[in-house]
Amino acid sequence: MSKPKLLITRRWPKAVEEAAMEHFDVTLNDKDIPLGIEDMRDALKSYDAISPTVTDVLNAKAFKVEDVSCKILCNYGVGYSHIDLPSAQKLGICVTNTPDVLSDCTADIAMTLMLMAARRAGEGERELRAKKWGGWRPTHMIGAKVTGKTLGIIGFGRIGQAMASRGHFGFGMKIKIFSRSQVSAELLERYNAEQFNSVETLLRKSDFVSLHCPGGTSNRHLINASNLAQARPELVLINTARGEVIDEVALANALENKTIKAAGLDVFDGEPNINPNLMTAPNLVMLPHLGSATRETREEMGFRALANCRAFFEGETPMDKVA
Ligand code: DGY
Repeated sequence: MSKPKLLITRRWPKAVEEAAMEHFDVTLNDKDIPLGIEDMRDALKSYDAISPTVTDVLNAKAFKVEDVSCKILCNYGVGYSHIDLPSAQKLGICVTNTPDVLSDCTADIAMTLMLMAARRAGEGERELRAKKWGGWRPTHMIGAKVTGKTLGIIGFGRIGQAMASRGHFGFGMKIKIFSRSQVSAELLERYNAEQFNSVETLLRKSDFVSLHCPGGTSNRHLINASNLAQARPELVLINTARGEVIDEVALANALENKTIKAAGLDVFDGEPNINPNLMTAPNLVMLPHLGSATRETREEMGFRALANCRAFFEGETPMDKVA
């Protein structure tokens, strides 16, 4: 039997590309640049399976194709807000993602940003490299203490829980949660956590807030000018979820006006373009979407996407089916 035709839209770690070739008739994107919407439409007509990433445009317009041959989108990544699920479902295309394998590394990068923003690490390094450091002094570059403070977490899935674990057990932080669904008593007890039913309350009661909810239209600008106005002036806001969850202009203004203390961002609305307001905002640490960027995790993401794809063509329900 011939192997299913699989398009991998961006380059993967070598070990996973090799594994893919054992089971599929693979096409790689040698240039490793994101596909345009027309390329994606052609791909939907030409391949049995596509493994897209967060950089691919799979909105309703992209799915406006006839004679679709693609049967599964085995997304390389946990977030799938770049895929219009109703359109995929209408065309009978199965969609899977890669949860679990990136929870630790994403929580690690959220901690990295939290510590960097609180302790002014980016600013300190820039001062030193610019040869502007005048030496140690008691009043130099004073930041915010992290240990023992209150950490608010928005979205309490696997990554949110990994963040709670780091904050609570590693830094003795008090954990507060905002989640639309009720967090189980067992989980709340594990982190000695308290759940609030509004983002405003969480912002009012936290020294640090870290975002771990999905992106997409339902969470677009969940953090905005009106609720940022209610935050403590000490607040340090961290986003490793999706750029659109924060109104970036409102965030830049809040930093400029010192409504909040600092922020750390790994994700951006419309990335890789960065809103110019963020470029000039003070007390802001930015990373280029590095949450899952470790060798181990990027390999595991690929193996997980392949496992889903193989299960599908073997007639099973893929373990990470989201639509
Ligand atoms: C994901 O998996 O959704 C990340 O944002 C990409 O690593």
